[in-house]
Amino acid sequence: MNNTQQFIQENKQRFLDELIELLKIPSVSADPAYTQDVNDAAEMVAKYLREAGADNVEVCETEGFPVVYGEKIIDASKPTVLVYGHYDVQPADPLELWESGPYEPVIKKTEIHPDGAIFARGSADDKGQMFMHVKAFEALNKTNELPCNVKFMIEGEEEVGSPSLVNFVKNNKEKLKNDVILISDTSMISNEQPSISVGLRGLSYVEVEVKGANRDMHSGVYGGAVPNPINVLATMIGKLIDEKGHITIPGFYDTITELTEDERADLARIPFDVEEYKKSIGIADIQGEEGFSTIERASIRPTLDVNGIWGGYIGEGAKTVIPSHAYAKISMRLVPGQDPEVVTQQFADYFPTLAPSSVDVKVKPHHGGKPYILPTNHPGFIAAKKALAETFEKEALAERAGGSIPIVALFEEELGTKSVLMGFGLNSDVIHSPNEHYGLFNFYKGIETIPYFYHYFNEQ
Ligand code: BES
Ligand code: MN
Ligand code: MN
Repeated sequence: MNNTQQFIQENKQRFLDELIELLKIPSVSADPAYTQDVNDAAEMVAKYLREAGADNVEVCETEGFPVVYGEKIIDASKPTVLVYGHYDVQPADPLELWESGPYEPVIKKTEIHPDGAIFARGSADDKGQMFMHVKAFEALNKTNELPCNVKFMIEGEEEVGSPSLVNFVKNNKEKLKNDVILISDTSMISNEQPSISVGLRGLSYVEVEVKGANRDMHSGVYGGAVPNPINVLATMIGKLIDEKGHITIPGFYDTITELTEDERADLARIPFDVEEYKKSIGIADIQGEEGFSTIERASIRPTLDVNGIWGGYIGEGAKTVIPSHAYAKISMRLVPGQDPEVVTQQFADYFPTLAPSSVDVKVKPHHGGKPYILPTNHPGFIAAKKALAETFEKEALAERAGGSIPIVALFEEELGTKSVLMGFGLNSDVIHSPNEHYGLFNFYKGIETIPYFYHYFNEQ
């Protein structure tokens, strides 16, 4: 590994310069205005993979944005690591809250990142983290120290629910055959305390519509005598969570795999300062489900959140009107044991029963995803832990991520292998928000750690 580590040290600046080129491309998968840019980002990833020395690099067409594939097979009898990541990004808006352009990467020092962090959309989620794998591979390959086979599958639709990757995986099982999948698209506890995510939450996502009268009405002439869909919707939403923080949907908790006392004790070992937490996001107090810690609420417990709500008049000044329609988007994060299709159906059955007979209610399901869990006795977890111990000189803790990467559960179903979530981001990187950034410390630590993962995984 020594030559590899030396190669990394000697090429640090170039690695960063190359990442900056990738970050300049606004590869927003959700917005058709950026179609060309998303395709350009795929081409650039392919170019970097080729330059790193990968074979059979291909920009594979799908029904949507392409999947970039590349591989290095050194010996068929050796294990194969499949690296997954995504080159698409979330929309940058609200633009006015960015201190520098989302696609004009700049390096600035912050309190958490005294060595500097790179500010740009996608810097942490996931271009910066995905790129660490390309560079770690380059270092191993160019120093002839690659200990096992490696395959890359970098997609461009993760931020819109990976619609095309499902068929790509189903149609390319042989090509994607592997012993373990390695992903850096999650966060770790802090730069002083490395961690490995051993779970991801699933997702059920719905849009609801409440319809009252056949037109908007004068709120004086009709007010008081007819349903106001916004008032009704607000009341219905209010009934979805009770005063103990429990979600009231019948059957919602029935199939959840509860944690053992040991597992809960492990989570309690994660350093956490509630005052710092409140201060960091500017809230006066925390809240959530009774009987669970903040870390548990944000990782091992399911949630229900309104993501957006609209209807009626929201222009300048006042308009006295009873709107005919009200809408909301609602997400539910799911935990192991819950099935998104079942939960979506439970919601669709229950939500309309909360409405008075004066309105019509519609529930429209969106994309969902299954939760995921990695046992800590899995060889991939053990290899990641040993790798992190090399570079941080500290024992990594297991934690469960609150976010979702829905395709990970499908990898297991279709390819039969587990994914190891060795992320190097921090929760303070503000992914999906203005001023997203990724620490240079984290970027380089990732590149230095990944070769050890290959080494230790190959040894088992
Ligand atoms: N990389 C994130 C998921 C993530 C972030 C997991 C931090 C754990 C910690 C991913 O790109 C993402 O944003 N996923 C979406 C789901 C998707 C269907 C849009 C999410 O979690 O909301
Ligand atoms: Mn991501
Ligand atoms: Mn994301």
